[in-house]
Order: sequence, then C-alpha cells, then structure tokens
Amino acid sequence: MPYRFRTIIEPFRIHSVEPLRMTTEEHRRRAIREAGYNLFNLHADDVLIDLLTDSGTGAMSRDQWAAIQHGDESYAGSPSWYVFLEAVQELFPFRHVIPTHQGRAAEKILFSVIAGPGKVVPNNTHFDTTRANVEATGAEAVDLVIPEGRRPETLHPFKGNMDLEALETLLEERAPDVPVVFVTITNNSGGGQPVSMENLRGVRALCDRFGVPLFLDACRFAENAWFIRTRERGYEDRHVADIVREMARLADGMTMSAKKDPLANIGGWLAMNDDDLAERCRNLLILTEGFPTYGGLAGRDLEAIAQGLRECVDPHYLRYRIRSTEYLGEALERAGVPIVRPVGGHAVYLDARALLPHVPPLLYPGQSLAVALYEAGGIRGVEIGTVMFGRHPDGTESPAPMDLVRLAIPRRTYTQSHVDYVIEVVCAVAEHAPELPGYRIVREPPQLRHFTARFEPL
Ligand code: F0G
Repeated sequence: MPYRFRTIIEPFRIHSVEPLRMTTEEHRRRAIREAGYNLFNLHADDVLIDLLTDSGTGAMSRDQWAAIQHGDESYAGSPSWYVFLEAVQELFPFRHVIPTHQGRAAEKILFSVIAGPGKVVPNNTHFDTTRANVEATGAEAVDLVIPEGRRPETLHPFKGNMDLEALETLLEERAPDVPVVFVTITNNSGGGQPVSMENLRGVRALCDRFGVPLFLDACRFAENAWFIRTRERGYEDRHVADIVREMARLADGMTMSAKKDPLANIGGWLAMNDDDLAERCRNLLILTEGFPTYGGLAGRDLEAIAQGLRECVDPHYLRYRIRSTEYLGEALERAGVPIVRPVGGHAVYLDARALLPHVPPLLYPGQSLAVALYEAGGIRGVEIGTVMFGRHPDGTESPAPMDLVRLAIPRRTYTQSHVDYVIEVVCAVAEHAPELPGYRIVREPPQLRHFTARFEPL
C-alpha cells in the first residue's frame, strides 16, 4: 500500500526573499489618518501583509526571471512577441491577439470600438474598471449574475453563473443594442466565484440565437478551470489546459489581465476571431498603446507572461493555490466571521454588512472594516461595496448589492504563517466590530472614486 498524505504543500521553495517592515498600531493609526482613511493612499512600506489585490503582486518563478533575460526589444516583430503569441493561442485559440499593458487597456480599446450611447453590455458582474470603461462610452453596464451570487451566505458550486433567464429577457428586448455579452471568469466582484461550463454553453446558445458575440473577461481563467475540474461532472480527469481551451472555444473573444492568473507583474491582451473588429482595435492600439507586436509591453514582459501561462495551468500549483485561499476562509468561518461562501479562488470576501449591522451601507461598513484591519494588524484589504459601486454616472448614490472587504491572496507570495497571522487579526477585529464607526466621504472624483476618495470616521 503506498502512503497517502493529506497536507497540500506549496509546490515550490523560496529562492529570493523580500523583507517586511514591522510597524506599530500607533504608527498605522497615524498613517491611515494622513491617507484620508483610504488604503490606496498608504505608502506600501507601512503595510505588513498586503492583500489589496492579487493583481501584479505575485511572485515570479525562476523560469520567468530567466525568460526575462530572453526578452528581445525589437520594435516590430520581436521574437518575444512570437513566444507570447504562441503561449496565448495554445490556451486561447483566437485568430487575433492584441497585446496591451494591462486588462483595462484592452477594455478601453474594445468598448471604444463597440459600445457607445444607447448600447447595453451584460456581464455576470462587471469589475470596476470594466464597468467604468463601458460607462465612459455612454453605454450601460448591466450585471446579471444568478440570484445566489448576490447572497453571501448561500452555497452554490458556481456562484458566478450568468442568470440565463435574465439574459434572455434582456436580449429579447434589446438585442440590437447589445454589442457583446461578457462573462467574467472567475466572477471577481461577486466573490471570486466560478462559472460552470454548462452555464457558459447556455450563454453561448443565447448569443447564437440573438446573433450577439460572447467575450470572456478571463483574468482568472485557470482558477475557474480548476473549479470546473473539481466541481463539474465529466471534467474530473481532464487537463486544465483542455478545460481552458473548451471555455475559449465557446467565446468569440476575450479581454485579459496578465497580472492575475498568468503570474506576471504587468500585461494583458485583447483577442478575437472577427477580422474587421480586430483591425479597428489595432488602429486604436497603435494610437494609445504601441505597435501590434508589443502593445504596451516590453519584450521581456511578453516572455514572462508566456512562461507564466505555462505554469498557471499546472494542477499542483492550482491545487495549492485554491486550497490556500480556502484555508483562510475555512478558519474565519469556523470562528464565526461572516464571509462569502463558498470561498472564491483568489480571495476571501468578508461580509462587512453582516459583521457591522450598526453601520448602514451609505456609511460604508466595508471601508470601516478595511481600515480597522489595517490599524489593528497592518493588513491591507479592499472595500468592494458601496464605496466602489454605490455612486452612479448621474451622480446619485445607493447601496451596492453587498458590502464586502476582499482579502486577495497574491500568488505564491505569502506563507501559511502569514495567513495564520491574518486569521488572528481578522478574528480580533471581528470581536470589536460593534465599536467600529461609520465613515463619510469628504472628497471624491467623478469616476472610480474608491481609488482616490478621502474619508472621515463619524
Ligand atoms: N477584469 C477583472 C475581472 C479584474 O479583476 C481586473 C482587475 C480587470 C479586469 C482589469 O485588469 O488591472 O490589468 O487593468 N482587477 C484587479 C483587482 C485590479 O484588484 O481585482 P487590469
């Protein structure tokens, strides 16, 4: 009988380390006050465990750093471009791949070409920059995630699924105004929740029926594929890369941030099959990003992304990745801290509305909890709630569907004892939740206010 062990270990060891700067609670209270109680305004040296985002913050591998040395900086037709193109098309066999400096540049180009006043773009849930880029063209961004996806408590294996009935109704009423249907895998704003292959097929069928293209916002495609492999019947024995290709083949194109699953610090792309659309996007690319064989990237970045794409579909990596996020979520759940369940792929989402029932949504319970976690333990999360999504293009404000604090886990960056520390801090703050204040905004920009707004505790 072979031995079998249950402990899932990091499938790597550490090769180069970065120091963390220890700070005192007193220091942090001063720093966050000076930052206008906005965690985006902090000097990152004042943060101990940085769970602000999993975007561009992961640790690159030895082989990615080696790939960087292969970077060829030719302006046009660099060999690094072909390495990148091949790695992307290996997983996403779209005819046209347009490199951009990050995901939102791909969004900006695509929506500038296909959206505009009178148009409406459905998505399971738009991420903040996606919504902002749709709205910046004068179009409307509509979120059609299944009802379970808006209820933190409710368990569902594919909580990121699109509400097919709602999509059908929208398409019946307005198909000519819908330039594209988007599906975000995994559904970041809704808790990092996956979308099933079956649901994706359902969206495809509706898109076919109404003659509308389907695009993926595919930032966390590998994590989504892993959830399909572990939760959807018929996929248990499939290679992750195969599952990714199957998702891609259901779509007509994609936007991508290479700062997430592809394990790079910068980069992204836009891809599609439509020749005419690709030409119009490339023309804009040249105007704002660069020549079509590098987009907004250096040759070395293209190489790092290509290598990262090969690493992120490794089942040993994904098993560790998904399990380490779940480990944090399970411990918090055991301690009675309300979180979005089941635990998502790249982050644990604390339900601030449930934890701070005395703070109404328009006094930003998520912001309050995020500030408290920083003050208490130097942990930086991000509010995903009424601060991020409560303000509308017409200047009015209303509560977002949920008030969450996301603790995003950078890839391959923190160890289990870092996570144990996070668990201890969150539990301690949760015990004091009834004492946490509401906040008011003292200054805010017209769009994407969460990045630069300044707050005051009440
Ligand atoms: N789409 C999704 C689902 C995202 O999560 C992000 C970024 C983007 C698009 C935009 O990509 O940052 O490369 O321009 N999400 C990061 C986050 C910032 O913290 O979740 P980008």
